[in-house]
Amino acid sequence: YHIPYHAPASGKIERYNGLLKTTLRAMGGGTLKHWDTHLAVGGIYTVIQTKAKITADEWGENYFLVGPYFEHNVKTQVEACEPPNPAVKKAMDTMKSQGCQVFFGRWLIEGSPYVLLFDIGSAAWNLDRWKGEFWDVSNIGIPFHDREANDAVIFGSLTAWFLKELSCQFDDKPNIIAHFHEWQAGVGLILSRSQKLPVATIFTTHATLLGRYLCAASIDFYNNLDQFNIDKEAGERQIYHRYCMERASVHCAHVFTTVSQITAIEAEHMLKRNPDVVTPNGLNIKKFSAMHEFQNLHSMYKARIQEFIRGHFYGHLDFSLENTLFFFIAGRYEFSNKGADMFLEALSRLNFLLRVHKTDVTVVVFFIMPAKTNNFNVETLKGQAVRKQLWDTAQSVKEKFGKKLYNALLKGEIPDLNKILDRDDITIMKRAIFSTQRHCLPPVTTHNMIDDGNDPILNTIRRIGLFNNRTDRVKVILHPEFLSSTSPLLPLDYEEFVRGCHLGVFPSYYEPWGYTPAECTVMGIPSVTTNLSGFGCFMQEHVADPAAYGIYIVDRRFRSPDESCNQLTQFLYGFCQQSRRQRIIQRNRTERLSDLLDWRYLGRYYMHARHLALSRTFPDKFEMEPSAPPKTEGFRYPRPSSVPPSPSVSQHSSPHHSEDEDEDERYDEDEEAERDRQNIKSPFSLGVLPQGKKKQHGEY
Ligand code: UDP
Ligand code: G6P
Repeated sequence: YHIPYHAPASGKIERYNGLLKTTLRAMGGGTLKHWDTHLAVGGIYTVIQTKAKITADEWGENYFLVGPYFEHNVKTQVEACEPPNPAVKKAMDTMKSQGCQVFFGRWLIEGSPYVLLFDIGSAAWNLDRWKGEFWDVSNIGIPFHDREANDAVIFGSLTAWFLKELSCQFDDKPNIIAHFHEWQAGVGLILSRSQKLPVATIFTTHATLLGRYLCAASIDFYNNLDQFNIDKEAGERQIYHRYCMERASVHCAHVFTTVSQITAIEAEHMLKRNPDVVTPNGLNIKKFSAMHEFQNLHSMYKARIQEFIRGHFYGHLDFSLENTLFFFIAGRYEFSNKGADMFLEALSRLNFLLRVHKTDVTVVVFFIMPAKTNNFNVETLKGQAVRKQLWDTAQSVKEKFGKKLYNALLKGEIPDLNKILDRDDITIMKRAIFSTQRHCLPPVTTHNMIDDGNDPILNTIRRIGLFNNRTDRVKVILHPEFLSSTSPLLPLDYEEFVRGCHLGVFPSYYEPWGYTPAECTVMGIPSVTTNLSGFGCFMQEHVADPAAYGIYIVDRRFRSPDESCNQLTQFLYGFCQQSRRQRIIQRNRTERLSDLLDWRYLGRYYMHARHLALSRTFPDKFEMEPSAPPKTEGFRYPRPSSVPPSPSVSQHSSPHHSEDEDEDERYDEDEEAERDRQNIKSPFSLGVLPQGKKKQHGEY
């Protein structure tokens, strides 16, 4: 990598006088494949999408997201408009005049940022030339069969071309920051640096290619971080060129960031550069004015899930839905990286515990992990049809019953309840009941799986025998598709589904951040995470007794897999032992942690990265304040006031485990919430965060 890495400039960014013209973001999805699906998936998409609001608040008209053009996405999510900035328009026009399709508009998400989209197909005829140019500056050769990497070269070349056209519009050196996410966007960064464009560059990696691959191969990754022959490992996995693109992007960037401390350590070993800033992932938190509102939502969406369960388990509904808990795991289908393997093993142990202790609790576990399918399976659809039929039957009998009752009352009579339903009504009801007979067990998957025989979740279910038998206290449903409110089967958005569940379980082995447990937290739903996930480590750092707040952190770092699995089982079993009241209290506590995950707080790490990039690129204009680096250390949520002080007690009994329901009754969670609120100031109001007067727009 012969492109020099800029040495950091010392000093101070004193003020910003409005010179900064344009902030550019090149966005990379999890893979380019994700870009061409109309439902973009995965955590990186969530970062880019949710961060747009605070970034647009800061940069206003000077903030542009850059990405590849996909017709369907544009049609459904982007409102075309003229670029407000003449320099952007001119740069676009130049590119268009040379045959390249560029699209401009507003992305219809919160913050409605501008987007600039390049049609990769329209520029594909340049591929050979651009690959050659890329080789000349980086010595990285891209094999012709790797479509994704080739697309990345086209996209990167277009990005650098645009930046070049843009930067040459200004007489004075313009102040452009270009922030690139992931290796797929990195070519633009490498080319900008090799062409010496006057652009401050930032590269954020949300994971490392090798880390993900090595972990997925069930290698003891964290204990051998410094032992890997990384070139060899990348070569053997046929990702050497991708790895080089990633590593070159990292080393070319003025500022390099990762999303968590755990990925920072990984990057140090896999990519050979320590990140300058850790930029944790946030969310846009919308607080309800009344605490109980999110609890009501839980109730409402739980009822919708229960409806689905009534259909799915028709004929086998010998368990009480009142005593049924809904657990789930969701995300991209990386079986061992996401900890689905450990989760299944723990479920098998939980099933055993619930059975031997003759608990009346039933647990229904959803696996929401997209796999290749051939639509819903017949048995699953039939379940919902049977449920609907029973509902319709009940409604028609009810109507008839109601009319007869009404007429009798009009006559001043109490009808003979034994005669109010006639023979036909009884026949209809009997037929409806007969239709609920089934000769197979409720299915463990909702779809026809293309590769059923090799599917790791299904194979594990086969091995541990969790087949939704009547005697099983743990029932399993694999839904191998992301959720959607338009689904004929389970018509709920992911957010609605999460709200309706009781516990999200994410026992990941490889998880640079992990939005799924973070999303649970802000919705007031407890979750399980690990100390190998960015989110888990972040919570461990900032919350004194995470379990008391409904954040259960499995130790996958310092324990053997079997010990970790036992710990997970204990968490799950302990959760099942809570009373409804305890669950309600715990949800209130979980929701109280939301502030920690708000972009309003976490956005400042991205701001800091931008300041740093400016000061390194344009040291004569921008200097860093000596106290500038924001730190995540310092803020900590204390243990809730009602939880016993001994961690050994609170971990297993949280929240405040009481044998005695009367004691529970006396316990008032609102009181606790108020008491704690007095003690815990929001992270926004604490001195640990950079303070100061409210800055003007764009001012540092
Ligand atoms: N997700 C979704 N629909 C679903 C299930 C998950 O949109 O049915 C989203 C979820 O909201 C989260 C993302 O997928 O933002 C997964 O992100 P995470 O960081 O947990 O995993 P990654 O994809 O980065 O490995
Ligand atoms: C919310 C609702 C309550 C409901 C409870 C059920 O708190 O506001 O009315 O009783 O959820 O909780 P559970 O954990 O049993 O689903």
